[in-house]
Parts: sequence; C-alpha cells; structure tokens
Amino acid sequence: MIIPGSASQSLSASLAAELDEPLATVETDRFADGEFKCRVPEVGGDRAVVVASTTSAEAHLELLQLQDLAREAFDEVVTVLPYMGYARQDRAFREGEPVSARAVARAISTGTDRVVTVNPHEPAVCEFFDVPSEAVDAASRLADPLPDLEDPLFLAPDEGATELAATVRDAYGVGETDYFEKTRDYDTGEVSVEPSDTDVSGRVVVLVDDIIATGSTMSSAIDQLHERDVGAVHVTCVHPMLADNARTKLANAGLASLHGTDTIERSVSTVSVAPVVADHLR
Ligand code: R5P
Repeated sequence: MIIPGSASQSLSASLAAELDEPLATVETDRFADGEFKCRVPEVGGDRAVVVASTTSAEAHLELLQLQDLAREAFDEVVTVLPYMGYARQDRAFREGEPVSARAVARAISTGTDRVVTVNPHEPAVCEFFDVPSEAVDAASRLADPLPDLEDPLFLAPDEGATELAATVRDAYGVGETDYFEKTRDYDTGEVSVEPSDTDVSGRVVVLVDDIIATGSTMSSAIDQLHERDVGAVHVTCVHPMLADNARTKLANAGLASLHGTDTIERSVSTVSVAPVVADHLR
C-alpha cells in the first residue's frame, strides 16, 4: 500500500499506478491546539510505502506519524523521501552547528525498515540513516520536456551540479557540458557566479541544478549569461522548491522555460520521478 504525505499526493498516485498497489486515503485533522493528526481508516498488509517530501517542519511531523501507523499495521515499512528536507545541511559549516541532515535522518530511521530518496544534494547523506538507504538518480528524466534545441550547452551553475548536467546532456543526446564557479556568503545568503570561458553568445543554454530554493543561484547564472549575449536560457532542476519570490526572480532574469520534477509538487513539476522510484521498489 502506498501511503501519501500531504506534499506528495500526485507522486504517490503515480507510484501506486506504476506499482499496481493500492493508494491509501489519509484523513487529516487538527487538535484544538493546532497539533496535526492523521488516520488511514483501512490499513494492513505486507508492505507500506510511505511517500513524503519533507518540505517543512510540519511535513516532518506528518511523516513520523504516518510511519508510526504503518509500523503497527504492516510487516515492512519503506519510506520514500522524494525531497529530503535539511539534506543540504550535511555538515557543520561553522563550529557549534548541528549536522541537521543527520538529525532528521536519525529520527526518520526509527520508523522504517528502509529509505529511498531522490537526488539528495550529496549522496553521502544516505549514510546518516540507521537503516538501509539508497539515492535514486532522476536527472535523466529532466531531458524529457526540453524542446528540439540546436547544439545546446548544458551548464551547471556550480561545480557540484556538473555530473547532473552531464546526465541530462547524455539523456538528451546532443550538446556540450560546462559549469560556473559559485560562491555564497553564508551570512547574507548572497550568491556570486563566475562565468566559464565557453562562448555562449547566440547559443542556447540549459541550466541544470539539483534544487532551486531561493532562486539566487539560477538568477545570478541567468544574469551572467545575458551579459554575454546568450541566445536563450532553459532552466531545469530535480527539486523545484521555489521558495518565496524565486519564481518572480527567475522570470525577471529572463528565461525561455522552467521545468522540475514532482519531488516537490509545483506548477512547473512537468516530469514525474515515479518510474525511476518504482524501479527501486519492485
Ligand atoms: C547548492 O549547491 C545547490 O546545488 C543549489 O545550487 C542551491 O541550493 C540553490 O539554492 P538557491 O536557489 O537558494 O540559490
């Protein structure tokens, strides 16, 4: 049985269809003090697959509750984290900070036999779980919505996304890859991007990243490309978090298209990771 978290209802439905497994109806409510409660009226069976992107603190608490009810009623519990919140805080950046990814991984491990996540910022984050865990690479799916482009340049806005850009290029079948150098001021959050030497004048560029959060990284990269007379910029990412005014920032920076997957369900989530996640659950 597939048990969906509130933030992963479309993906859960697609997964249930892919795996030909029942999709649980989760009833949600709140106590008078605002605390969240949930119930799955019909439970029981061999395996529960709890699918929940932890996009907020509330989503984390909902996941723990879904895992708890699943543990009581099923022989096996698998937890799918299409988007794992706090995964980018995978080390203590300054003395005295927690490793937040490890903290949430430990909590999630207590309610499951296995974890499957999709393109975490660093695959090493899987080691923080106390149960077997694996990272699904859904990047190749990002090539699907791209139109026919002549000799596109698949560009990572920082070195860390180079492999992702190469995967999308390989799936697309034509084009080159390159990356920008990025620095971020951790106090102000300000991002600056240093262009590479590749000539982008008049060329179509596809920017590829694992996540668009505030949109600062992508909008800086788009600005740099326009300064260098780029032909057109298409933007794609696995996790379209698009927090606050990110969507507006990107629109104002000037882009031809924006796509993401359904690990985070947004209007730009035109690609489903269900087929690749299903492969890990069969
Ligand atoms: C960082 O290395 C990631 O790959 C993304 O580039 C970054 O997290 C995006 O964040 P934002 O949209 O806030 O710039």
